Order: sequence, then structure tokens, then C-alpha cells
Amino acid sequence: MLTGNEDWSQLCDESSDEGNCCNLARDRRLVREITEAFANVIDMKDDWTKGHSTRVAKYTRMLTLELGYDKDIAERYSRAALLHDIGKIGISKRLLQKDGRLTEAEYDSICEHPTNGYHILKSISVAPELAAAAACHHERPDGTGYPQGLVGDQIPRVAQIIAVADTFDAMYSDRPYRDRMNFNQAVAIIREGSGTQFFTDVVDAFLRLVKKGKFRADDDNGGGSFDDIDNSNLARKQA
Ligand SMILES: [Fe+2]
Repeated sequence: MLTGNEDWSQLCDESSDEGNCCNLARDRRLVREITEAFANVIDMKDDWTKGHSTRVAKYTRMLTLELGYDKDIAERYSRAALLHDIGKIGISKRLLQKDGRLTEAEYDSICEHPTNGYHILKSISVAPELAAAAACHHERPDGTGYPQGLVGDQIPRVAQIIAVADTFDAMYSDRPYRDRMNFNQAVAIIREGSGTQFFTDVVDAFLRLVKKGKFRADDDNGGGSFDDIDNSNLARKQA
């Protein structure tokens, strides 16, 4: 279990560029290879999860660069995003793809995936952002997220960024049981969550990229579902 004593804010914002160049290059290659190996495990679980993780990694890279970070940080955060839902490998496919309201026990089971992901990745000390992202991507700055209810800057930067990328893709992608949400509606929901569900500067970066046409899919002709897929409901369904 998470103890609650972890200082998440320190987990991923410090560069692990210690030691000599040879060690650094070796560590980076090792992290890349470990990430790819774990990503292959996720791919085997579920086609939808595979596509979701890849898109969230891409969006995270775009947002990180837009926020002014360098390519190295964008690469590290992007890899962390690729593995953010690795804790779902212990959850049945039937439950992950269930159409309809989850029972309380099912919801509780899905909500364990951040903690499970943290335990899978925590021993990779050269890339602490991997465990931080898995553990904290459902936390919210207003303290109503899970699993720990962290507040504001207690949430690691990598998870602040992934939260926007993850939620946007969860709404703006086809699911086994529904079409993706209308683009403008999904963007509006992200905008409305600024300062409560999401960090304001990350939402601002997202909206700048939207203005540049970066998040709209090539095959989007203005359609998409206008169903009231409210964001918290979505979390209850898919976490
Ligand atoms: Fe998740």
C-alpha cells in the first residue's frame, strides 16, 4: 500500500542525470528498453488499452513541450504516460470493458490500478517518474481524486500533465460500447475542469494546442456523440 508519506512532488521533477556519461547513457537505454517491454505486456492485455496508452503518451509529449520543458523531459514523461495504466493488467478484461454501471465492488477494484501500477514500477529508481505517473494520474488539484486525495503540488508534475491527456483521450476515443464524444464538447469539459480536476497551466497549454489544431483527429468531420458522458461518470466506468 501507499503509505501516504511519499513526497510525490520530489519524485519526478529532479533529473536523474547523476554519474558519468556512460552510466547515464546506459540508464537511459535501460529505461527505454524496460518501458518497451512493459508496453508489450499492456498491448497483450487489450487492444483498446494499447491504443489509449499510445495516444496518451503522444498527447503528454505535446503538452510537456508546450509547457516549456525540454525534449529530454518530454521523452521521460511520454514514456511514463505509456505505462500510466499498467496497474490494469491485474483487472479482468470483462470488467474493463463492461458496458453499464459498475457495482461498488467493481469500481473499488478498478480504482486499485494506480496503487498496483506504483508497486509494479517503484523499484525502477533511475526513472521515478514511471511510478509517480502510475500512482497519481487520477489525483486532482482540488484533493478529490484517488487513491490518496493529494492536493495541489503534492501531485507530481508528470501526473498533472498526464491527467489532461488521459481524460481527453478517454472522452475523445471510441469505446467498445460507444462512439467518441464530439470534439468541442470534450474540449469544453477539459476547460471546465481547470483549477479543480486539472492544473490551470496544463489546461491552458492544452487549449493553445487545440487552437493550433493539434488534438482534433484527421477523420473528425464535426460529429461525435453529444451524450452526457460526464467526466466523473466516465471515471466511474473506466477509471
Ligand atoms: Fe488510469
